[in-house]
Amino acid sequence: MQAKPAWWKESVVYQVYWRSFRDTNGDGIGDLPGVIEKLDYIKSLGVTMLWINPFNESPDKDNGYDVSDYYTVMKKAGRMEDFDQLVAETHARGMKLMMDVVVNHTSDRHPWFIESSSSINSPKRDWYVWQDGVHGGPPTNWRSYFNPSCWELDENTGQYYMHSFAIEQPDLNWANKEMRMEIYKMLRYWLDKGVDGLRLDALALLAKPQSYTDVEDPRDIRYLTHNPGLHDYLQEMNHEVFRHYDMMTVGEIAFATPELGALFVDEDRSELNTLFHFEVADEMPEWDMVRYKQIQRQWAEALEGRGFGSQFLNNHDHTRQVTRYGNDTEYREESAKLLATMIHTLPGIPYIYQGEEIGMTGVRYETIGEYKDIAMINKYVEEIGKGKDPAAVFQSLQPLSRDNSRTPMQWNAGRYAGFGSAEPWIKLNPNYERINVEQAESDPNSVLAFYRELIALRKNNPVMVYGDFTDISGDDPHLYVYVRELEGTEWIVLLNHGEEAHIFTFSEPICGSETMNLKLVLGNYESTSSTWNDEDRKMELRPYEARIYEVVS
Ligand code: GLC
Ligand code: CA
Repeated sequence: MQAKPAWWKESVVYQVYWRSFRDTNGDGIGDLPGVIEKLDYIKSLGVTMLWINPFNESPDKDNGYDVSDYYTVMKKAGRMEDFDQLVAETHARGMKLMMDVVVNHTSDRHPWFIESSSSINSPKRDWYVWQDGVHGGPPTNWRSYFNPSCWELDENTGQYYMHSFAIEQPDLNWANKEMRMEIYKMLRYWLDKGVDGLRLDALALLAKPQSYTDVEDPRDIRYLTHNPGLHDYLQEMNHEVFRHYDMMTVGEIAFATPELGALFVDEDRSELNTLFHFEVADEMPEWDMVRYKQIQRQWAEALEGRGFGSQFLNNHDHTRQVTRYGNDTEYREESAKLLATMIHTLPGIPYIYQGEEIGMTGVRYETIGEYKDIAMINKYVEEIGKGKDPAAVFQSLQPLSRDNSRTPMQWNAGRYAGFGSAEPWIKLNPNYERINVEQAESDPNSVLAFYRELIALRKNNPVMVYGDFTDISGDDPHLYVYVRELEGTEWIVLLNHGEEAHIFTFSEPICGSETMNLKLVLGNYESTSSTWNDEDRKMELRPYEARIYEVVS
């Protein structure tokens, strides 16, 4: 069954990690004026929406995901006038703006938390999650994402507060209605300012476990997520906020299986428009074609006729896709284009993380001191504390460090890669002299040029958005071949995720007729004939080759 048309389903989202995008005032940190300066570039990609990572006032322990004032703009990012200008100029270019909101927790410097921790009798005590200790220790053995315990003792009141992330990120208590209403008010404030979309951080964690008891294996932190009450909160949020705006919502839903995920985006349930699940990013450290195809099949089935998905392979938390899932040396350009073809032709909304469109790669710094990622640093300290070899721990943490994606955007081969006039807050990837926007603009076959073609195709071909999806490559470990079909238009996408050539054999006529005539829509190799017609039904694909064909009768 074909999905009901909606503008947000036709979106192509470009994620801007503003602090690493463009610095305009020479403090080494990207800023909102820097985003404004580059809006024409972003527009030139053809994307329809920008997702801006959190920019509210914050002590920045977790790069803005620890908010201390929901109503102001962090000084590093700029002023409220800059934000207003960003909204206006984004709209003037026909694009939309999505804000990233963090409502599972605040900073420990937020006035709410300061008040809540001031006394057991504080009127805001119940706005956070407080518990008594047990036997002189924390209430339970639960971990946090970034620490061995999710509990921190508050010496002043003698109770522990819960933090699913860093110690400086206390969790809000979503069971408290007064607190929830305050959050909804804040969301309306930004939507009234003209924000068109919300990326909602860490949503799966809002509802807390019903009883405070130890778990068998604290390392498997699923217990922090998908607890009873979660969907009531989201329906309430929808009722109080979302349904009053013409907007798009995407939830960050950790540990969402297809069955659980469908509950968030089912159009009859009035919760969210779409979601990010992490079955790929969290559970597939390296490329695994068979597993990836299975994940896609299962999600397509679960969402069929119910809701709309999202597609991404990297973001500010996950290592750059060409390094993690492609080949960032010999086949950097081919594999970057192949992964892009896949993300833009599978069902769901495609997201591009800044720099992905020029095939930026992950980074390896020399020492732990050069890394900034709190998740990595805390893990390093924890493992060393257990007596492990520092060099070995360091090496094991490098491939998935979040800093892989947080290096400054590479604009040109000049000083600081054109990021700004001062040394950036985080070290550049040394390959900026080779891989940068200016270079890509001068090459008609660049990864950048390919992204533009791919995005333009989506605009003109609803089959990419609304088409049915059928995987015809079974469990082939290298090849991914699928059909998208909409009202008589049939596209076949062929991807060879291998370093050698591989042959695909069509098992049966795709369009009902005996001879298969295919017209090339887009390919990532220069020398590809524009038509294909072969009685053997065999097609050879070169290393990391991607082709999109239209079936012509
Ligand atoms: C999300 C963000 C991540 C942040 C965490 C805590 O996963 O994407 O960057 O550290 O939530 O807010
Ligand atoms: Ca700056």
